Amino acid sequence: MIRVDNITKTFPGAERHAVDRVTFNVNEGNICVFAGPSGCGKTTILRMINRLIEPDEGEIFINGENARTMNPATLRRTIGYVIQQIGLLPHRTIEQNVAIVPGLLKWPRDKTRKRVLELLEMVGLDPGEVGRKYPHQLSGGQMQRVGVARAMAADPPIMLMDEPFGAVDPIVRVRLQDEFLHLQQAFKKTICFVTHDINEAIKMGDYLVILNAGRIIQMGTPIEVLTSPADAFVRDLLGDDRGVKILDLTRSGSLMEPANALPESPGRNGCTVQAVQPVKIALEMMMKKNADQVGVCEGETIVGILTWNGIKEHINRVSGDGS
Ligand SMILES: Nc1ncnc2c1ncn2[C@@H]1O[C@H](COP(=O)(O)OP(=O)(O)O)[C@@H](O)[C@H]1O
Ligand SMILES: [Mg+2]
Repeated sequence: MIRVDNITKTFPGAERHAVDRVTFNVNEGNICVFAGPSGCGKTTILRMINRLIEPDEGEIFINGENARTMNPATLRRTIGYVIQQIGLLPHRTIEQNVAIVPGLLKWPRDKTRKRVLELLEMVGLDPGEVGRKYPHQLSGGQMQRVGVARAMAADPPIMLMDEPFGAVDPIVRVRLQDEFLHLQQAFKKTICFVTHDINEAIKMGDYLVILNAGRIIQMGTPIEVLTSPADAFVRDLLGDDRGVKILDLTRSGSLMEPANALPESPGRNGCTVQAVQPVKIALEMMMKKNADQVGVCEGETIVGILTWNGIKEHINRVSGDGS
């Protein structure tokens, strides 16, 4: 869907490349997350994909078509952009802000208005309440929702999202992430998502691209990156609780032992988890109930058990440092 081939960008007067020989693919319907410290080139990569910046070298292909030769209207229809710092126009109402791309594409008024109301509702805003307000009258969380609605206005198959939930407190942020993942289940957009928050990266990403100083340091699925960080930089970025993060991405069913291997009956004290639930949930339950094992269920049926020792051994095995 998106193929980026060896792009490099150096800003005038800069000492180093902002983006240095970067190559990656984003598969259709996937969320590809770009993570790394401030200044590592994340925003520049997004801006090259929608051609707000031209790369000095390298090529970008959208659905097999070279982005350099696509016309601007097609590009706008194909790619929605949620910019860092939201960037709502202060003197336009929320409805007018969301209607910007349909306006550029010269949609009829009725169609635009219908779409705007539908979008506001979709991102969890009451169109009647916020539609005629101005950006400064909204909370941070509401503005971020408007930013997402605006990017989705022309129903683009591709979305570029630059720290889209960056300007809100952690609780609102988690809610916005959950809502967006829920929307994505239905929409299956192809998304490039930028964040400097590694937890957000792991949660949102089907695939991660870890950057530092304009270069890709590592790429892979969240579990691949968590279980084998390429170097000390990635290890630091992932944090001391890497083991816990791994358990959050591991399904209980994948670590269970046969229920009949142990003499004690599984799931005693009603202590059970579903096989599809993360091992982290099982661990929390063990701690809460002061148990050293939980039963693993598929529906009502116990299909195995998960033990404290089994989990510990798994962590030691995959993270290699016992954390
Ligand atoms: N328009 C610009 N002019 C000059 N330098 C820029 C410009 N935009 C970004 N840079 C520089 O390029 C590097 C990458 O920036 P950016 O892509 O914004 O990083 P990130 O989004 O990861 O924080 C930084 O060193 C930044 O200072
Ligand atoms: Mg940025």
